[in-house]
Amino acid sequence: MTLRAGIVGCGGISRAHATAYANLDGVALSALCDINADALNARADEHDVSARYADYEEMFRKEGLDLVSVCTHAPLHGPVAIAAAKHGVNVLSEKPLSVDLQTADKMLATCAEAGVRLAVSHQFRFSPLFQEAKAWIDAGKIGEFRTVRELGKGRPAGFELMEMGVHYFDEMDLFLDGIDWIHAQVTYEGRDVDAGGIMTSRELCTTDRRDNGFVAGDTMLIHIKGKNGASGVMELYRRPQVQGWMMGPHILGSDGQLMIRPNPETFVDELWHCPFDVSFPSHTPQWRKLPVDPERFRIGGQLWERRQSIWSVRDMVDSIREGRQPQLGGAAALTSLECVAAVYESHFTGARATLPLKDRRHPLIKRL
Ligand SMILES: NC(=O)c1ccc[n+]([C@@H]2O[C@H](COP(=O)([O-])OP(=O)(O)OC[C@H]3O[C@@H](n4cnc5c(N)ncnc54)[C@H](O)[C@@H]3O)[C@@H](O)[C@H]2O)c1
Repeated sequence: MTLRAGIVGCGGISRAHATAYANLDGVALSALCDINADALNARADEHDVSARYADYEEMFRKEGLDLVSVCTHAPLHGPVAIAAAKHGVNVLSEKPLSVDLQTADKMLATCAEAGVRLAVSHQFRFSPLFQEAKAWIDAGKIGEFRTVRELGKGRPAGFELMEMGVHYFDEMDLFLDGIDWIHAQVTYEGRDVDAGGIMTSRELCTTDRRDNGFVAGDTMLIHIKGKNGASGVMELYRRPQVQGWMMGPHILGSDGQLMIRPNPETFVDELWHCPFDVSFPSHTPQWRKLPVDPERFRIGGQLWERRQSIWSVRDMVDSIREGRQPQLGGAAALTSLECVAAVYESHFTGARATLPLKDRRHPLIKRL
Protein backbone atom coordinates (compact mmCIF):
# COMPACT_ATOMS: atom_id res chain seq x y z
CA MET A 1 0.00 0.00 0.00
CA THR A 2 1.37 3.42 -0.95
CA LEU A 3 1.55 5.82 1.99
CA ARG A 4 -0.11 9.21 1.50
CA ALA A 5 2.07 12.14 2.59
CA GLY A 6 1.23 15.81 3.02
CA ILE A 7 3.25 18.96 3.71
CA VAL A 8 2.18 22.00 5.74
CA GLY A 9 4.26 25.09 4.87
CA CYS A 10 5.48 25.34 1.27
CA GLY A 11 8.52 27.62 1.78
CA GLY A 12 12.26 26.91 1.55
CA ILE A 13 12.66 23.56 3.33
CA SER A 14 9.46 22.08 1.90
CA ARG A 15 11.34 21.68 -1.40
CA ALA A 16 13.62 19.10 0.26
CA HIS A 17 10.68 17.20 1.78
CA ALA A 18 8.72 17.20 -1.50
CA THR A 19 11.84 16.00 -3.36
CA ALA A 20 12.30 13.28 -0.75
CA TYR A 21 8.75 11.96 -1.17
CA ALA A 22 9.21 12.04 -4.96
CA ASN A 23 12.35 9.87 -4.65
CA LEU A 24 11.22 7.31 -2.07
CA ASP A 25 9.38 4.10 -2.90
CA GLY A 26 6.03 3.29 -1.32
CA VAL A 27 5.02 6.89 -0.54
CA ALA A 28 3.31 9.59 -2.61
CA LEU A 29 3.06 13.32 -2.00
CA SER A 30 -0.73 13.65 -1.97
CA ALA A 31 -1.65 17.06 -0.50
CA LEU A 32 -0.06 20.42 0.28
CA CYS A 33 -1.04 23.33 2.51
CA ASP A 34 0.11 26.95 2.78
CA ILE A 35 -1.67 30.19 3.61
CA ASN A 36 0.40 31.85 0.89
CA ALA A 37 -1.25 30.87 -2.42
CA ASP A 38 1.87 31.62 -4.49
CA ALA A 39 4.07 29.37 -2.34
CA LEU A 40 1.40 26.65 -2.33
CA ASN A 41 0.85 26.68 -6.08
CA ALA A 42 4.55 26.84 -6.91
CA ARG A 43 5.36 23.73 -4.85
CA ALA A 44 2.18 21.91 -5.97
CA ASP A 45 2.88 22.65 -9.65
CA GLU A 46 6.46 21.34 -9.31
CA HIS A 47 5.14 18.01 -8.03
CA ASP A 48 1.82 17.87 -9.87
CA VAL A 49 -0.22 17.78 -6.65
CA SER A 50 -3.87 18.75 -7.12
CA ALA A 51 -5.01 18.63 -3.46
CA ARG A 52 -4.13 22.19 -2.30
CA TYR A 53 -5.25 23.73 1.01
CA ALA A 54 -4.97 27.00 2.91
CA ASP A 55 -6.25 25.33 6.12
CA TYR A 56 -4.33 22.36 7.54
CA GLU A 57 -7.30 21.18 9.66
CA GLU A 58 -9.34 20.84 6.47
CA MET A 59 -6.49 18.98 4.77
CA PHE A 60 -6.23 16.50 7.66
CA ARG A 61 -10.03 16.06 7.73
CA LYS A 62 -10.38 15.36 3.99
CA GLU A 63 -7.20 13.68 2.78
CA GLY A 64 -6.76 10.51 4.86
CA LEU A 65 -3.00 11.12 5.10
CA ASP A 66 -0.59 8.62 6.66
CA LEU A 67 2.07 11.21 7.44
CA VAL A 68 2.75 14.93 7.26
CA SER A 69 5.90 17.04 7.10
CA VAL A 70 5.48 20.17 9.21
CA CYS A 71 7.55 22.83 7.41
CA THR A 72 6.23 26.06 8.92
CA HIS A 73 8.19 28.30 11.31
CA ALA A 74 8.73 26.86 14.81
CA PRO A 75 5.78 28.43 16.74
CA LEU A 76 3.35 26.60 14.45
CA HIS A 77 4.99 23.15 14.69
CA GLY A 78 3.03 22.37 17.87
CA PRO A 79 -0.48 23.35 16.70
CA VAL A 80 -0.04 21.56 13.33
CA ALA A 81 1.40 18.40 14.92
CA ILE A 82 -1.41 18.25 17.49
CA ALA A 83 -4.07 18.72 14.79
CA ALA A 84 -2.44 15.99 12.68
CA ALA A 85 -2.31 13.57 15.61
CA LYS A 86 -6.01 14.09 16.29
CA HIS A 87 -6.68 12.90 12.72
CA GLY A 88 -4.39 9.86 13.09
CA VAL A 89 -1.58 11.31 10.93
CA ASN A 90 2.09 10.54 11.74
CA VAL A 91 4.18 13.71 12.12
CA LEU A 92 7.66 14.59 10.90
CA SER A 93 8.30 18.07 12.29
CA GLU A 94 10.99 20.35 11.00
CA LYS A 95 13.42 21.51 13.66
CA PRO A 96 13.25 23.02 16.21
CA LEU A 97 10.46 20.74 17.44
CA SER A 98 8.84 23.75 19.09
CA VAL A 99 9.78 27.01 20.78
CA ASP A 100 9.31 25.63 24.31
CA LEU A 101 9.32 22.35 26.21
CA GLN A 102 5.76 22.60 27.51
CA THR A 103 4.40 22.64 23.94
CA ALA A 104 6.84 19.90 22.91
CA ASP A 105 5.68 17.72 25.83
CA LYS A 106 2.08 18.24 24.73
CA MET A 107 2.97 17.33 21.12
CA LEU A 108 4.59 14.12 22.32
CA ALA A 109 1.72 13.21 24.67
CA THR A 110 -0.98 13.91 22.05
CA CYS A 111 0.85 11.83 19.43
CA ALA A 112 1.39 8.97 21.89
CA GLU A 113 -2.28 9.05 22.92
CA ALA A 114 -3.38 9.02 19.26
CA GLY A 115 -0.96 6.15 18.49
CA VAL A 116 0.95 8.13 15.85
CA ARG A 117 4.66 8.81 15.56
CA LEU A 118 6.26 12.20 16.18
CA ALA A 119 9.80 12.74 14.94
CA VAL A 120 11.97 15.81 14.41
CA SER A 121 13.97 16.25 11.22
CA HIS A 122 17.66 16.31 12.15
CA GLN A 123 18.94 14.71 9.00
CA PHE A 124 22.71 15.05 9.68
CA ARG A 125 22.97 11.95 11.86
CA PHE A 126 21.66 9.68 9.09
CA SER A 127 24.24 10.78 6.52
CA PRO A 128 26.84 8.08 5.71
CA LEU A 129 29.69 10.49 6.62
CA PHE A 130 28.33 11.06 10.14
CA GLN A 131 27.81 7.30 10.47
CA GLU A 132 31.38 6.70 9.26
CA ALA A 133 32.78 9.23 11.77
CA LYS A 134 30.79 7.55 14.56
CA ALA A 135 32.17 4.13 13.49
CA TRP A 136 35.75 5.54 13.61
CA ILE A 137 35.17 6.86 17.14
CA ASP A 138 33.57 3.63 18.36
CA ALA A 139 36.36 1.51 16.84
CA GLY A 140 38.97 3.59 18.76
CA LYS A 141 40.60 4.80 15.54
CA ILE A 142 41.20 8.30 16.96
CA GLY A 143 42.31 6.93 20.34
CA GLU A 144 40.56 8.20 23.44
CA PHE A 145 37.62 10.29 22.23
CA ARG A 146 37.73 13.76 23.81
CA THR A 147 35.72 16.50 22.12
CA VAL A 148 33.34 17.45 19.31
CA ARG A 149 33.43 21.11 18.27
CA GLU A 150 30.88 23.05 16.25
CA LEU A 151 30.72 26.65 15.03
CA GLY A 152 27.66 28.64 14.03
CA LYS A 153 27.26 30.08 10.55
CA GLY A 154 27.51 33.64 11.88
CA ARG A 155 23.96 34.74 12.67
CA PRO A 156 23.37 36.15 16.19
CA ALA A 157 23.68 33.27 18.66
CA GLY A 158 20.13 33.27 20.07
CA PHE A 159 18.79 32.87 16.54
CA GLU A 160 21.52 30.46 15.46
CA LEU A 161 20.83 28.23 18.47
CA MET A 162 17.33 27.52 17.12
CA GLU A 163 18.48 27.07 13.52
CA MET A 164 21.89 25.30 13.50
CA GLY A 165 22.34 24.79 17.26
CA VAL A 166 19.56 22.22 17.47
CA HIS A 167 21.15 20.25 14.60
CA TYR A 168 24.50 20.40 16.42
CA PHE A 169 22.92 19.18 19.68
CA ASP A 170 21.49 16.23 17.80
CA GLU A 171 24.85 15.30 16.30
CA MET A 172 26.48 15.70 19.74
CA ASP A 173 23.78 13.37 21.11
CA LEU A 174 24.88 10.85 18.45
CA PHE A 175 28.65 11.18 18.97
CA LEU A 176 28.48 11.47 22.79
CA ASP A 177 26.00 8.56 23.22
CA GLY A 178 23.54 10.92 24.92
CA ILE A 179 23.89 14.21 26.80
CA ASP A 180 24.16 14.54 30.60
CA TRP A 181 24.47 18.28 31.21
CA ILE A 182 25.13 21.67 29.65
CA HIS A 183 27.05 24.68 30.91
CA ALA A 184 26.75 27.89 28.92
CA GLN A 185 27.55 31.58 28.82
CA VAL A 186 25.38 33.92 26.76
CA THR A 187 26.54 37.46 25.99
CA TYR A 188 25.31 40.44 23.97
CA GLU A 189 27.82 43.00 22.73
CA GLY A 190 30.38 41.59 25.15
CA ARG A 191 28.27 41.60 28.33
CA ASP A 192 26.44 38.79 30.08
CA VAL A 193 22.80 38.74 29.00
CA ASP A 194 20.29 39.57 31.72
CA ALA A 195 16.47 39.59 31.64
CA GLY A 196 16.58 42.94 29.80
CA GLY A 197 18.39 41.21 26.91
CA ILE A 198 15.55 38.79 26.14
CA MET A 199 13.90 39.57 22.80
CA THR A 200 12.06 37.96 19.89
CA SER A 201 14.15 36.20 17.26
CA ARG A 202 13.08 38.82 14.69
CA GLU A 203 14.34 41.63 16.91
CA LEU A 204 17.66 39.86 17.38
CA CYS A 205 18.20 38.71 13.79
CA THR A 206 17.12 41.27 11.23
CA THR A 207 18.57 39.42 8.23
CA ASP A 208 16.60 36.13 8.60
CA ARG A 209 12.89 36.57 9.20
CA ARG A 210 12.11 33.06 10.45
CA ASP A 211 10.25 33.16 13.75
CA ASN A 212 11.96 31.26 16.57
CA GLY A 213 10.07 32.78 19.50
CA PHE A 214 12.00 34.38 22.38
CA VAL A 215 15.80 34.25 22.25
CA ALA A 216 18.79 36.08 23.75
CA GLY A 217 22.43 36.88 23.04
CA ASP A 218 24.66 37.46 20.02
CA THR A 219 27.40 35.13 21.32
CA MET A 220 27.32 31.78 23.14
CA LEU A 221 29.96 29.39 24.42
CA ILE A 222 28.39 26.05 25.30
CA HIS A 223 29.95 23.02 27.01
CA ILE A 224 28.02 19.78 26.52
CA LYS A 225 28.89 16.74 28.65
CA GLY A 226 28.30 13.38 27.00
CA LYS A 227 27.23 10.11 28.59
CA ASN A 228 30.36 8.44 27.15
CA GLY A 229 32.64 10.90 29.02
CA ALA A 230 33.60 13.04 26.01
CA SER A 231 32.49 16.66 25.63
CA GLY A 232 30.94 18.89 23.03
CA VAL A 233 31.90 22.53 22.55
CA MET A 234 29.66 24.86 20.57
CA GLU A 235 30.67 28.42 19.71
CA LEU A 236 28.02 30.66 18.22
CA TYR A 237 29.03 34.20 17.43
CA ARG A 238 27.91 36.92 15.05
CA ARG A 239 30.13 37.32 12.00
CA PRO A 240 30.04 39.96 9.27
CA GLN A 241 29.24 37.27 6.70
CA VAL A 242 27.11 34.17 7.19
CA GLN A 243 29.03 31.16 5.91
CA GLY A 244 27.37 27.78 5.43
CA TRP A 245 30.64 25.94 5.00
CA MET A 246 31.49 26.61 8.65
CA MET A 247 29.09 23.91 9.77
CA GLY A 248 30.29 20.42 10.52
CA PRO A 249 31.81 18.55 13.44
CA HIS A 250 35.51 18.70 14.35
CA ILE A 251 36.12 15.56 16.39
CA LEU A 252 39.24 15.24 18.55
CA GLY A 253 40.79 12.16 20.12
CA SER A 254 44.13 11.34 21.77
CA ASP A 255 45.43 9.81 18.51
CA GLY A 256 43.76 11.83 15.80
CA GLN A 257 41.06 14.12 14.53
CA LEU A 258 38.12 13.90 12.13
CA MET A 259 36.31 16.74 10.44
CA ILE A 260 33.17 16.81 8.32
CA ARG A 261 32.76 19.98 6.28
CA PRO A 262 30.84 20.87 3.17
CA ASN A 263 33.21 21.64 0.30
CA PRO A 264 32.99 25.47 0.04
CA GLU A 265 32.49 25.32 -3.73
CA THR A 266 30.25 22.27 -4.28
CA PHE A 267 28.63 22.04 -0.80
CA VAL A 268 29.11 18.26 -0.98
CA ASP A 269 30.13 16.99 2.46
CA GLU A 270 33.63 15.59 2.95
CA LEU A 271 35.16 13.59 5.83
CA TRP A 272 38.78 14.42 6.69
CA HIS A 273 41.27 12.72 9.02
CA CYS A 274 44.45 13.94 10.72
CA PRO A 275 46.62 11.43 12.64
CA PHE A 276 47.60 13.93 15.42
CA ASP A 277 45.65 15.04 18.47
CA VAL A 278 46.45 18.71 17.78
CA SER A 279 46.80 20.71 14.56
CA PHE A 280 49.62 23.22 14.22
CA PRO A 281 49.78 25.10 10.94
CA SER A 282 53.02 23.32 10.07
CA HIS A 283 51.32 19.92 10.56
CA THR A 284 48.16 20.49 8.58
CA PRO A 285 49.42 18.75 5.40
CA GLN A 286 48.75 15.58 7.39
CA TRP A 287 45.01 16.07 6.90
CA ARG A 288 43.64 13.75 4.20
CA LYS A 289 40.18 13.13 2.82
CA LEU A 290 38.78 9.71 3.72
CA PRO A 291 37.23 7.72 0.91
CA VAL A 292 33.63 6.59 1.55
CA ASP A 293 31.90 4.18 -0.85
CA PRO A 294 29.59 6.37 -3.01
CA GLU A 295 26.97 3.60 -3.03
CA ARG A 296 26.29 4.38 0.63
CA PHE A 297 24.80 7.69 -0.52
CA ARG A 298 22.36 6.09 -2.94
CA ILE A 299 18.63 6.31 -2.38
CA GLY A 300 16.57 5.32 -5.38
CA GLY A 301 18.46 6.28 -8.52
CA GLN A 302 20.41 9.17 -6.95
CA LEU A 303 23.36 9.90 -4.69
CA TRP A 304 22.47 12.22 -1.75
CA GLU A 305 25.87 13.59 -0.72
CA ARG A 306 24.74 16.73 1.14
CA ARG A 307 22.81 16.50 4.38
CA GLN A 308 19.44 16.49 2.62
CA SER A 309 16.13 16.00 4.42
CA ILE A 310 15.54 12.77 2.50
CA TRP A 311 17.56 10.96 5.18
CA SER A 312 15.11 11.79 7.98
CA VAL A 313 12.06 11.52 5.71
CA ARG A 314 13.19 8.02 4.74
CA ASP A 315 13.56 6.98 8.38
CA MET A 316 10.00 8.19 9.10
CA VAL A 317 8.56 6.37 6.06
CA ASP A 318 10.48 3.17 6.92
CA SER A 319 9.37 3.37 10.57
CA ILE A 320 5.71 3.38 9.49
CA ARG A 321 6.22 0.50 7.06
CA GLU A 322 8.24 -1.50 9.62
CA GLY A 323 5.94 -0.76 12.60
CA ARG A 324 8.71 0.81 14.73
CA GLN A 325 9.54 4.24 16.19
CA PRO A 326 11.63 6.58 14.01
CA GLN A 327 15.18 7.11 15.35
CA LEU A 328 14.29 10.65 16.40
CA GLY A 329 10.83 9.75 17.64
CA GLY A 330 9.45 9.29 21.14
CA ALA A 331 11.50 10.93 23.89
CA ALA A 332 14.43 11.33 21.43
CA ALA A 333 12.39 14.01 19.62
CA LEU A 334 12.81 16.27 22.66
CA THR A 335 16.58 16.12 23.19
CA SER A 336 17.78 19.00 21.02
CA LEU A 337 15.09 21.35 22.38
CA GLU A 338 15.93 20.29 25.96
CA CYS A 339 19.49 21.43 25.16
CA VAL A 340 18.27 24.87 24.01
CA ALA A 341 16.38 25.35 27.29
CA ALA A 342 19.41 24.04 29.21
CA VAL A 343 21.68 26.67 27.61
CA TYR A 344 19.58 29.55 28.95
CA GLU A 345 18.91 27.82 32.29
CA SER A 346 22.63 27.32 32.82
CA HIS A 347 23.49 30.87 31.79
CA PHE A 348 20.95 32.46 34.13
CA THR A 349 21.72 30.20 37.12
CA GLY A 350 25.49 30.04 36.56
CA ALA A 351 25.30 26.27 37.11
CA ARG A 352 25.24 23.12 35.00
CA ALA A 353 21.78 22.28 33.68
CA THR A 354 21.16 18.53 33.79
CA LEU A 355 18.94 16.86 31.18
CA PRO A 356 16.00 16.28 31.15
CA LEU A 357 15.07 19.63 32.69
CA LYS A 358 12.64 19.45 35.61
CA ASP A 359 11.23 22.93 35.03
CA ARG A 360 9.47 22.73 31.67
CA ARG A 361 8.65 26.44 31.40
CA HIS A 362 10.34 28.53 28.71
CA PRO A 363 13.62 29.58 30.40
CA LEU A 364 13.39 33.11 28.93
CA ILE A 365 9.65 33.83 29.10
CA LYS A 366 9.63 32.91 32.80
CA ARG A 367 12.34 35.56 33.36
CA LEU A 368 10.65 38.37 31.42
N1 LIG B 1 16.31 20.56 8.62
C1 LIG B 1 16.92 21.56 8.00
O1 LIG B 1 18.08 21.46 7.59
C2 LIG B 1 16.20 22.86 7.79
C3 LIG B 1 16.64 23.78 6.84
C4 LIG B 1 15.91 24.97 6.65
C5 LIG B 1 14.81 25.24 7.46
N2 LIG B 1 14.43 24.33 8.42
C6 LIG B 1 13.28 24.63 9.31
O2 LIG B 1 12.09 24.54 8.54
C7 LIG B 1 11.12 25.46 9.06
C8 LIG B 1 10.64 26.34 7.91
O3 LIG B 1 11.72 27.09 7.40
P1 LIG B 1 11.68 27.68 5.91
O4 LIG B 1 13.05 28.22 5.65
O5 LIG B 1 11.14 26.69 4.95
O6 LIG B 1 10.64 28.90 6.11
P2 LIG B 1 9.83 29.69 5.00
O7 LIG B 1 9.50 31.01 5.55
O8 LIG B 1 10.55 29.63 3.69
O9 LIG B 1 8.48 28.81 4.82
C9 LIG B 1 7.46 28.74 5.79
C10 LIG B 1 6.13 28.58 5.06
O10 LIG B 1 5.10 28.33 6.03
C11 LIG B 1 3.93 28.98 5.54
N3 LIG B 1 2.91 29.14 6.58
C12 LIG B 1 2.82 30.09 7.55
N4 LIG B 1 1.70 29.94 8.29
C13 LIG B 1 1.06 28.83 7.78
C14 LIG B 1 -0.15 28.16 8.12
N5 LIG B 1 -0.94 28.57 9.12
N6 LIG B 1 -0.50 27.07 7.39
C15 LIG B 1 0.27 26.66 6.36
N7 LIG B 1 1.43 27.26 5.99
C16 LIG B 1 1.82 28.33 6.69
C17 LIG B 1 4.46 30.31 5.00
O11 LIG B 1 3.51 30.94 4.15
C18 LIG B 1 5.73 29.85 4.28
O12 LIG B 1 5.49 29.53 2.92
C19 LIG B 1 11.82 26.25 10.18
O13 LIG B 1 11.45 25.69 11.42
C20 LIG B 1 13.29 26.02 9.90
O14 LIG B 1 14.10 26.05 11.06
C21 LIG B 1 15.08 23.16 8.57
